[in-house]
Amino acid sequence: LQELIAERTRELEASNRELESYSYSIAHDLRAPLRSIVGFTQIILEDASHKLDDTELNYLNKTIGAGKRMGTLIDEILELARLSRIPITTQKVNLSTLASEVIDTLKTNDSQRCVSVVVESGLEAEADPQLVRLCIENLLGNSWKYTKRRPQAIIEVGLYRADTPNTFYVKDNGAGFDMQYVDKLFLPFHRLHNDSEFEGTGVGLATVQRIIERHGGSIWAEAEVGKGATFYFTLQSGPNNGSLPNPISVSG
Ligand SMILES: Nc1ncnc2c1ncn2[C@@H]1O[C@H](COP(=O)(O)OP(=O)(O)O)[C@@H](O)[C@H]1O
Ligand SMILES: [Mg+2]
Repeated sequence: LQELIAERTRELEASNRELESYSYSIAHDLRAPLRSIVGFTQIILEDASHKLDDTELNYLNKTIGAGKRMGTLIDEILELARLSRIPITTQKVNLSTLASEVIDTLKTNDSQRCVSVVVESGLEAEADPQLVRLCIENLLGNSWKYTKRRPQAIIEVGLYRADTPNTFYVKDNGAGFDMQYVDKLFLPFHRLHNDSEFEGTGVGLATVQRIIERHGGSIWAEAEVGKGATFYFTLQSGPNNGSLPNPISVSG
């Protein structure tokens, strides 16, 4: 029986890899025709705009907008596929520094917002620095986005002590979501909020989950509509975790 299971697992893994490389090549092949659609539409818009009425101009602008959105989706599918293949090289990463850097960038790009952020100091994990950065960017990017209606937005990053010693969390007091749909959260292109409320493509959390799982960790979330969301993830942690209990405020 053991052998049979092992064989079936190998077969499944092979067919998964095949499907992934299939979707990778489809996504890749969609890029060139899309470039033509957007490119030629732009040329018409630039060269013939004096011959077109407002409705026609509006249609062309919509075509370009839709083409660009599709381009973003294609890029994200390709990125997701790439993340499943690239080798990971882990080293000790300071998650506190990383989170503060990501927050600084978010603040710079969106200086109107008033968000108070608390990042616990001394958070360390054994991880691939680039990939873990991508995770933090996605999680903090979400917290930033889903708190945009809060006059007093609060984002927290820390170590969750009640659980296993290597569970980190990113918490916000934003829009939250209905826990009924929590199992859809990490599926690519699934969104629990619509574009008119909050923009997005629904690939971020699928990316984060893939990265965390490739590190041997796991990720889950808790939320309440209108109250906020907390994302927990586990990563092999460095030896100094928890020895610096004082939170440092990086912005306010
Ligand atoms: N911090 C958060 N607060 C509330 N909802 C969230 C948060 N992060 C993620 N979500 C929900 O999970 C969905 C998937 O997230 P993600 O994959 O990052 O996609 P996107 O940010 O493009 O919508 C989002 O559409 C949103 O509904
Ligand atoms: Mg996102």
